[in-house]
Amino acid sequence: MTLKAYRGEILSVQHDPRHRPDATRHESDGLLVMEDGIIVARGAYADLADRYPGVAVENLPGLIVPGFVDAHVHYPQMDRIAAHGEQLLDWLERHIFPAEKAFADRAHASEVAGVFLDELLRNGTTSALVFPTVHAHSVDALFDAAIARNMRIASGKVLMDLGPDGLRDTIEAAREDSEALIRRWRSRGRLSYAVTPRFALTSSDAQLRLAGDLLAAHPDVLLHTHLAENLRECAAVIDRFPDAYHYLDAYDRFGLVGARSVFAHGIHMCDRSCARMAETGAGIAICPSSNLFLGSGFFDFVQADAHGIRLGLGTDVGAGTSFSMLFTAGLAYQAALARGTALDPFFGLYLATAGSAALLHIGDRVGSLELGQEADFVVLDSNATPLIARRTAGASLAERLFALQILGDDRAIMRTYIMGECAWDRNAGGSS
Ligand code: GUN
Ligand code: ZN
Repeated sequence: MTLKAYRGEILSVQHDPRHRPDATRHESDGLLVMEDGIIVARGAYADLADRYPGVAVENLPGLIVPGFVDAHVHYPQMDRIAAHGEQLLDWLERHIFPAEKAFADRAHASEVAGVFLDELLRNGTTSALVFPTVHAHSVDALFDAAIARNMRIASGKVLMDLGPDGLRDTIEAAREDSEALIRRWRSRGRLSYAVTPRFALTSSDAQLRLAGDLLAAHPDVLLHTHLAENLRECAAVIDRFPDAYHYLDAYDRFGLVGARSVFAHGIHMCDRSCARMAETGAGIAICPSSNLFLGSGFFDFVQADAHGIRLGLGTDVGAGTSFSMLFTAGLAYQAALARGTALDPFFGLYLATAGSAALLHIGDRVGSLELGQEADFVVLDSNATPLIARRTAGASLAERLFALQILGDDRAIMRTYIMGECAWDRNAGGSS
């Protein structure tokens, strides 16, 4: 039994603060106590310190928040971030498919997976739902690297039997690979499996049916795909599925829309599809930096809230332009304001932590630093840059949080802890 205690300012947002007045929990001088990486006490230092007399307390000089949960990101695309010139469909053809073909080489996949997870840690992200490639070993490479770092990662082989040369699978191979991967990884470390058809345009009807069969056979796995991101994509989906009422319905017909389904983007949605999403309990990973970068549009927070759709936040690297969930929350604010709504910074933090965790069905384990949760947390630095220091000096908690979202990025991540162990220390340039 190993007890550890950290003292500092602690903030978490367990529920959507737009609907729950008790969503936010803040201790200006708090204590977080953990046993073997699990939180056993949290509260005001003055109230708790006497209960743990023999336990050494480490002071953390920053704002302690839950580790970020990136609800949608592509690890094979990290080296194609910032690829110039195209919207979604042309960008995929010109920049992304060639990069993903290189993952036929397992050694390449392993090298990129390690660098990718280290980049997440540098940015304070401790959990993520990750797209690999069509190659089964791209999942093995990622999960091996995640186990080595004890990170909470969900992923699953990409299904795409209508993909380009070199990135196509077949129905039979997809079935065998997916079943084998689920058997190999489902209960290891902190991992979970996600059935991952790339999007409606890259899978045949028979393969979408296979995805539905996999979900039905394995009720513990997630469904992870893209939805209604780009207008040309939406038009092509309606062409391909003329009987579907809307884009979501093309997935629904194959049993892919349920409480464990995570759809990235969801920008161009009619009210009927929003109502269906809410009714099934499926949710959306909002990806504002990607939506701006690919000229896809602005997510409609008002429409989603009117229907009560579950939301999380994703970087969507390599269409996304940053691994930082702080920066991504700042862009969510700007995307909402483009449609006339000013998001509260506590809602931004909720999306980046407990909201995404709930979307990935890991909200009981991480995301809000509550008792019994795994002690994944980040120490944010309000003095990360001279400008952030000036803007946050003497500011309220809400102002500091907002400034960190608008001006902050990896520079504001002083340390990242995984189950109570330091996994990234900015000053040491690695783990300490
Ligand atoms: N839709 C289908 N594939 C992709 C992808 O790799 N990135 C994004 N942003 N959208 C997609
Ligand atoms: Zn994506």
